[in-house]
Amino acid sequence: MPGLDDVIAAETVLSDVDGANGRLIIRGHPVEELARSATAESVAALLLDGFFDDMPKGGGLAQQIGRTRRDIFHRLQPHLPAIASLPPVEALRAGMALLPDGDDFQTALRLLAGPAVLTPAIIRLRRGERPLPPDPHAGQAADMLQMLTGVIPTAAAARALNAYLATVCEHGLNASTFAARVVASTKAGLVSAAMAGISALKGPLHGGAPGPVLDMLDAIGEAGNAETWLRQALGRGERLMGFGHRIYRVRDPRADALKAALRALGTTGAASSRLALAEQVEKVALDMLHREKPGRPLKTNVEFYTAVLLDALGFPSDSFTCVFVTGRMPGWIAHAREQELSGRLIRPQSRYVGPAPQQAA
Ligand code: ACO
Repeated sequence: MPGLDDVIAAETVLSDVDGANGRLIIRGHPVEELARSATAESVAALLLDGFFDDMPKGGGLAQQIGRTRRDIFHRLQPHLPAIASLPPVEALRAGMALLPDGDDFQTALRLLAGPAVLTPAIIRLRRGERPLPPDPHAGQAADMLQMLTGVIPTAAAARALNAYLATVCEHGLNASTFAARVVASTKAGLVSAAMAGISALKGPLHGGAPGPVLDMLDAIGEAGNAETWLRQALGRGERLMGFGHRIYRVRDPRADALKAALRALGTTGAASSRLALAEQVEKVALDMLHREKPGRPLKTNVEFYTAVLLDALGFPSDSFTCVFVTGRMPGWIAHAREQELSGRLIRPQSRYVGPAPQQAA
């Protein structure tokens, strides 16, 4: 069973990914609703509800995440220059690895706050700029943008980042969540599970795709070049980044949720031209994939408009996966807790197809 297609490896209360109909329900809420109105903190509260006895209700969680951002900044500040010499997602993984492991709510808080603090700090250090401390009273999305740029973001920008973080917060048993659940099943702890999640998410077939999407749009440059560029890429046997999905047989609903967030952001100037180009490239790519790969349901996935949205918000393309980690973290923690509480070690089998032992003459 290469790729474990169609294998049900867990029961979950967290999300229903309906690939046939292009619907995603997260703990009873359609993803479109969360993208419109949820925040990083409210989706964390939604996903972690019932998994920690001491998790505060209402605004208490947001306050605790804010205070934890400040604590983590001070805890990790001395290590930041060494960490930031690595590519961004490896730097983020190295920083997160410095957090103490455990299964308790304090560990979960550090995991929720860590990527929001480390991502802007790593970006700034790689640009030769000083990392900026968090504001524990700001919302997580607004604070990330403020730590990135040094200025208080517009409400529209904070809303757009919240829309992104909410859209990607949870998505069933994808590769990174499965990796996190396998580690959690050994009782290694939530930080270990999250490290597995980050490592799996990093790959270009999973959460590493949006950087290459932006590279593709840059390389195409203008809509008139799309047909030739995309045909040549397919001719070289390459995959078009931001298209195709193992589960969705129709369009990934998160792509439209992010496109709506981009429209609500009201892009102007370069970001607006980039959105227009993306829409034209998407159309040409979908037509071409339909023609070149008949019978394959290759549609736009979440990563395509992730690239355009995070670029419009000022994140550099090599850091997009770090922002994805920030968004997906509550999903990984909730799955890890669900796995720990269901209490069964994940241990499938392999079939040996190697050589038999040599018979003695
Ligand atoms: N461009 C061109 N061809 C593609 C693409 C693509 N984006 N995706 C799949 N195909 C082709 C494959 O080459 C294969 O063709 P073949 O049978 O003629 O060799 C066929 O479609 C099926 O490919 P599979 O690998 O079986 O598809 P799978 O469902 O396993 O792959 C995946 C899903 C990895 C997402 C794939 O579509 C892909 O590589 N897409 C590009 C990378 C990407 O956007 N990743 C982000 C996914 S969303 C997320 O993880 C958050």
